[in-house]
Amino acid sequence: MRLFLFFAFMIYAGKRAHGCGMKFTPPMVYLEFGGSTVANCNTSCSSVDGIGWESSFGGTGLKEGLTTLDVNLDNVNDWETEPKCYTVFSNGSQDSQKLPITIYKMPTKVSMPKPLSPLMADDKYHLLKCSVFDVAPVNRLIISWYKGDKMFHEQKFEGTDRHPVNRSVEATVDIVAEDNRKKVWCEAKLDLPAKQRPQPMRSELHELTVYYPPTLTEPKNETLENVTGTKISLNCTATGNPTPHYEWHFANSTLKWTRDQNATGPILTLDFRTPGVWKCVASNVVDKTTKYFHLNKPKDNYTTMAALLGVFLTLGIVIIILGAVFVTRSGSCTIPRTIY
Ligand SMILES: *[C@@H]1O[C@H](CO)[C@@H](O)[C@H](O)[C@H]1NC(C)=O
Ligand SMILES: *[C@@H]1O[C@H](CO)[C@@H](O)[C@H](O)[C@H]1NC(C)=O
Ligand SMILES: *[C@@H]1O[C@H](CO)[C@@H](O)[C@H](O)[C@H]1NC(C)=O
Ligand SMILES: *[C@@H]1O[C@H](CO)[C@@H](O)[C@H](O)[C@H]1NC(C)=O
Ligand SMILES: *[C@@H]1O[C@H](CO)[C@@H](O)[C@H](O)[C@H]1NC(C)=O
Ligand SMILES: *[C@@H]1O[C@H](CO)[C@@H](O)[C@H](O)[C@H]1NC(C)=O
Ligand SMILES: *[C@@H]1O[C@H](CO)[C@@H](O)[C@H](O)[C@H]1NC(C)=O
Ligand SMILES: *[C@@H]1O[C@H](CO)[C@@H](O)[C@H](O)[C@H]1NC(C)=O
Repeated sequence: MRLFLFFAFMIYAGKRAHGCGMKFTPPMVYLEFGGSTVANCNTSCSSVDGIGWESSFGGTGLKEGLTTLDVNLDNVNDWETEPKCYTVFSNGSQDSQKLPITIYKMPTKVSMPKPLSPLMADDKYHLLKCSVFDVAPVNRLIISWYKGDKMFHEQKFEGTDRHPVNRSVEATVDIVAEDNRKKVWCEAKLDLPAKQRPQPMRSELHELTVYYPPTLTEPKNETLENVTGTKISLNCTATGNPTPHYEWHFANSTLKWTRDQNATGPILTLDFRTPGVWKCVASNVVDKTTKYFHLNKPKDNYTTMAALLGVFLTLGIVIIILGAVFVTRSGSCTIPRTIY
């Protein structure tokens, strides 16, 4: 730290010792190609005879007796222009300095070719290309890629070229199921001070079509045990793109299921509770997935049935016993003859 301060002091002292110099206002000129602006040169030196601007735009020639001078840079349409400020001292020597200037131009076009369609979710390398035409200077150019309002990549460029350039670059993007119907685009901007910064320029927008396999919402398998009522709905709804289609099978081969209903939808309604394993296959061009429904014997209904059966059996036995007693008592069949 101490060493740093020491050097800082040396540099400062050195500058002061050298005496004086030129100061530009603004210190750095940002000018749109073909645009106009004013810059000032001011010398802090003493014993100055005069000051002047040497420039193909608004050059002034030597102005004697002045230490500060403006230059009007009008309609600057030369990428190479380098305005210089110079001072002439009374001892006859001269000093001159280039005005730091950045001449910029937004692209004439930013474009992104249409991405492959459809894209498969979770495939690794999807490249999105972005092309920018006729932009300057290249070392201020920033290209950004967006997917659904979120920037996912940014690229800066190097180079000393002051003339407009074309650039075509690619960025990798991850594609997941949720990206279906999201929009992608790229945009170009110039890294300039906020006041000068032009609006970024966008490419066309492209809507992504992402295919992904049918995915079941939880649970993956279902056991339906204590469902009351005779009607029962099996829900096999799966998300996928393209929209899955469904096939239903009764996995128990010992029982036959008559396809009396339209069983191509995500929900199968059974009119009769048939215990066994039901299988649903949801499929699309990407893949298929299977869900099993274990439909158990309804315990409650079963006990009710058993109870009812018990009651009937008991009744039957009672009737038989009563009948036996009756027959025994009479000794023979005593049904009245009137029936015949
Ligand atoms: C030029 O610089 C001097 C001292 O460095 C300062 O006093 C003066 O105000 C400046 N003039 C302009 C026009 O900036
Ligand atoms: C002329 O004067 C300037 C400013 O006073 C000084 O920086 C420069 O060294 C001098 N040049 C000569 C040749 O004496
Ligand atoms: C940039 O691309 C345009 C259109 O393709 C072409 O006319 C122009 O010459 C290119 N500029 C450079 C510097 O390559
Ligand atoms: C679903 O049930 C089937 C057959 O009963 C079984 O093979 C599979 O592992 C089960 N899957 C899950 C996620 O429980
Ligand atoms: C079904 O009902 C029986 C008796 O009421 C109970 O013991 C069992 O836990 C229930 N099973 C489920 C999955 O709710
Ligand atoms: C079937 O399941 C899906 C996903 O869990 C749900 O959105 C839908 O409402 C269910 N349909 C019925 C008729 O229960
Ligand atoms: C098929 O149904 C019969 C009668 O309900 C049952 O005994 C058998 O275990 C079932 N098989 C399977 C694989 O579920
Ligand atoms: C089954 O339902 C689907 C969709 O609801 C319908 O497009 C199809 O025509 C139906 N098929 C029959 C045989 O009813």
